[in-house]
Amino acid sequence: MGRQRMAEAGKAPKIVGTVAELRSAVADYRRAGETLGFVPTMGALHEGHIALVKQAQTLADRVVVSIFVNPTQFAPNEDFSRYPRTFDADVDKLAQAGCDLVYAPGREDMYPAGFSTGISIAGPAQGLESDFRPHFFSGVAIVVAKLLLQTAADVAVFGEKDYQQLRVVTQMARDLDLPVRIVPGPTVRESDGLALSSRNRYLTPEERTVAPVIHRALTTAAIAIKAGAVPDAAAAEAEATIARAGLKVDYVAARNAETLAPLASPDEPVRLLAAAWLGTTRLIDNIGV
Ligand code: PAF
Repeated sequence: MGRQRMAEAGKAPKIVGTVAELRSAVADYRRAGETLGFVPTMGALHEGHIALVKQAQTLADRVVVSIFVNPTQFAPNEDFSRYPRTFDADVDKLAQAGCDLVYAPGREDMYPAGFSTGISIAGPAQGLESDFRPHFFSGVAIVVAKLLLQTAADVAVFGEKDYQQLRVVTQMARDLDLPVRIVPGPTVRESDGLALSSRNRYLTPEERTVAPVIHRALTTAAIAIKAGAVPDAAAAEAEATIARAGLKVDYVAARNAETLAPLASPDEPVRLLAAAWLGTTRLIDNIGV
């Protein structure tokens, strides 16, 4: 797949809110022989999302971005109601990026009355996030499956920032024979290492100065592992560093980079993953070794 059509930066993307409108716009692209890339988002877009859009533009002729704050991936005590909703600013950013189509369905479009279907995933969905947010991956799986089927994209780009989500979606697409290529997008960071996240805006100025400790601790652990340290011991050291900075750690773990299973042998590819609370904000990050 190659991009034949230059994205027109600054041109307002077409905005659709229903599956019928989405399919009609996609059918127009298909009739013109164009391929489709897809970036799913919950809005509150930042440079990390825009990097995914730019990456999708290198992989397909047209790019659709969905904006939908998916209620099924939030537990009742989580931040669904306060999750930032910045639709107009998001569309401006997508226009600048040359995105072709914005799909912004309403809750009733995605989950009409009587909606009764679920997807349960084991494998990479086990442990880590699931230990602390047991509802999360069933919510992500159902909404991502629907979005992939609705857009019928050839390729979809998911950020490595949500590494377990990337592995879960990749597994689901493979298991369900979804005709889409799932492509990872590198994490975009602030200059001090903090991974860009829509939730960073919850941080107080003081918390913001502390937050990069997660990336620093993971980087130190990755260097130690490369130099021969036992991955679980390096992860435990990173956890202690993050806790000493005042965060409440959910987990810091060294896992098989593909399956996310605990490490069983020294030659497996390693990924370090962490989640921790800084005040009322939950931050996640990860790094390859
Ligand atoms: O990563 C996200 O923003 C969400 O989990 C996703 C993939 C858009 C599904 O709601």
